[in-house]
Amino acid sequence: MSDKPKRAQWGAQAHLDERGKLPVSFPRILGPNAMAYLQEVADSGLTADMTGRFERAFAEALGVKHCIATPGCTPALHVLALACGWAPGDEIIVSPITDYGTLHGFVAQNIIPVFPDTAPGSINFSPETIAPCITDRTRGILCVHMTGLINDMDGINALAARHGLLVIEDACQAVFGEYKGRLAGTLGQVAGFSFDSEKTMGSDIGGCMVTNDDALAEQARYMGQSRGAVMKPEYGRLHADAGYAYRMPQCTAALCLAQLEIIREQVAHRDRIIRMLYGRLDEIPGITPLRIPGDNTVYSCWMAGFNIEPSAFACSTGEFAAQLAEAGIPGAGMGRYYLMPEAVTYLARNAGAKVYPYSMPPASRPYSYAIERYPNAVAFLDTFIRWSTFCEKYQPEHCELAAAIVREVADKNRV
Ligand SMILES: Cc1ncc(COP(=O)(O)O)c(C=O)c1O
Repeated sequence: MSDKPKRAQWGAQAHLDERGKLPVSFPRILGPNAMAYLQEVADSGLTADMTGRFERAFAEALGVKHCIATPGCTPALHVLALACGWAPGDEIIVSPITDYGTLHGFVAQNIIPVFPDTAPGSINFSPETIAPCITDRTRGILCVHMTGLINDMDGINALAARHGLLVIEDACQAVFGEYKGRLAGTLGQVAGFSFDSEKTMGSDIGGCMVTNDDALAEQARYMGQSRGAVMKPEYGRLHADAGYAYRMPQCTAALCLAQLEIIREQVAHRDRIIRMLYGRLDEIPGITPLRIPGDNTVYSCWMAGFNIEPSAFACSTGEFAAQLAEAGIPGAGMGRYYLMPEAVTYLARNAGAKVYPYSMPPASRPYSYAIERYPNAVAFLDTFIRWSTFCEKYQPEHCELAAAIVREVADKNRV
């Protein structure tokens, strides 16, 4: 046996071991036009501009001016970080519970992530937990709508406006979710989406950045897609800036376009079913399903989950989750690895060693990612159990079955 650590997996490969009594995401349901669009790309000899078509269709569906399609949300937010052009050592406030892809692009541009704690009992942060993190180096607030639960965007926008900060949404887990009747991704100045195969609008891979800001969109295309190059007449490309080529491939766009045609109906279904499932889970003593704020008029749920009351059970949260997986909930587990200040170990390492940009300058103060700074997030995640992913294949009978499994495991372990 080798001691070499196992590398992280992605796509369908990451979900192959998930079996149980409930539906799983893979194989994914694809829109009926998937093959036709793929065929069109091939038949056109790659001239079909499927990527442009998808960008226009997605922008129209959201009601925004610009959609810049990329190979994923990680690159989409890197494109955004490049377009923002903030100085090394500037700070961005980021939700503490999220996927690594949320922060990578900004970190890569030497922007320092600052994580507020989550609101008590919530998976998301709040204006109250964000406010004390704002300094004279803060440039933006990156809000992640975890599991599809949309943040208090009115409160966050008001706070940001008082300090002149850019409001960014990471809407990867909330595609076509609605907050007070407005779509996720349109609630700040700019947003990132993922169309990775395991996501709600699952294509092959893929993502995009959306905005109504013409200048930001232009700069994003220049820095993130044209590799910082301009055309000089009678010469060719001049690379005036260190840019990237994060462009969505045509075949990915073909699948995204097909998925876009069926997504609204699927999200409406997810919203109905998850409310039913949480209603059933709520009836079980010691179990608290994720709370859907009244503001979330459509909960585009990507990942279902609940907290257990530790004093009610004789087992640990991890044991409870393992028993659920064994009893038939595919991929049931804990989500502590979503706690970024802890899981992104190089942040604490570099901050501690004052590695650039934590050196002073460009940083203006020391940084710490010590776990004690996030008591609410730790308390939440230590009692949180999630489905690997929730999916559009659920029907009411699956809610009954899932609740029966949770009840059985709860009763078996009750003190
Ligand atoms: C909240 C969030 N942000 C960003 C990402 C990264 O997206 P992608 O895999 O498309 O790069 C994910 C993917 O899991 C995510 O859930």
